[in-house]
Amino acid sequence: MPDAGDRHRDMNRYYEERWENPSDPRDFVFKQLNALVMERLQDGKRQTVLDVGSGKGAIVSMLRQRDYAINAVELNETFAKSLRKNFPQARIIEGDTNTIEVSGRFDVTTAIEFVQNLDETSVRKFLARTAQATSSVVISVSNRQSIHGLWVAYRRFQKSFVYTYIPKQIEAMLEDAGFVVTYRKGVWLLTPIALLPDFRLPLIPAWFARIVNRIGDRVFPRLCHLY
Ligand SMILES: C[S@@+](CC[C@H](N)C(=O)[O-])C[C@H]1O[C@@H](n2cnc3c(N)ncnc32)[C@H](O)[C@@H]1O
Repeated sequence: MPDAGDRHRDMNRYYEERWENPSDPRDFVFKQLNALVMERLQDGKRQTVLDVGSGKGAIVSMLRQRDYAINAVELNETFAKSLRKNFPQARIIEGDTNTIEVSGRFDVTTAIEFVQNLDETSVRKFLARTAQATSSVVISVSNRQSIHGLWVAYRRFQKSFVYTYIPKQIEAMLEDAGFVVTYRKGVWLLTPIALLPDFRLPLIPAWFARIVNRIGDRVFPRLCHLY
């Protein structure tokens, strides 16, 4: 069982290698999620936003296009450095969003593909802190009750730093923190899964998933990989 330090190092290494990587078979899945987030973000008109777990900056980049005044929190030192370089107009804060002080109030908080790195106690803490500092939140979860979630658990592919949630659970946690859920959507009912670790021997061809998902995502949002 890896300790907290090992988990942190594994997480950094994993995201540095895999995130926003066009050769990762899930890249187009995340791109579709990002397109949905972009659609949901209205014109910022210099409203303030806090983006948590900014990674390599895909969401920060969309927020800039939408003209938000951007604050971003990122735990990984390397990512924080490159965010500062790539987005000089944004305030980039390096650290754990649940322990550092982030001054200010925000019109919107974005947490895309982020709470998957928090256990349930930490998600609750994060949402409680977020509710103090923001009026609205755009959030995604990796769905435990999706084909993807069930498969990675069954095959024991799930990384020690990844936590999956079911849609009902995250909605209940949001409500407990004082938020009212006003929009929900599922992305990718059928998603790339493979027989072997690191996506070797893929089982669902992307072309087939695309066809099924056109209708499947609408009919079964709560069974999609991302919610
Ligand atoms: C899966 S990536 C998502 C990146 C970005 N939101 C996107 O959608 O492109 C998750 C990011 O959250 C960061 N992270 C994980 N735990 C964190 C924490 N407690 N505080 C701040 N950032 C964290 C990781 O370092 C990683 O860069």
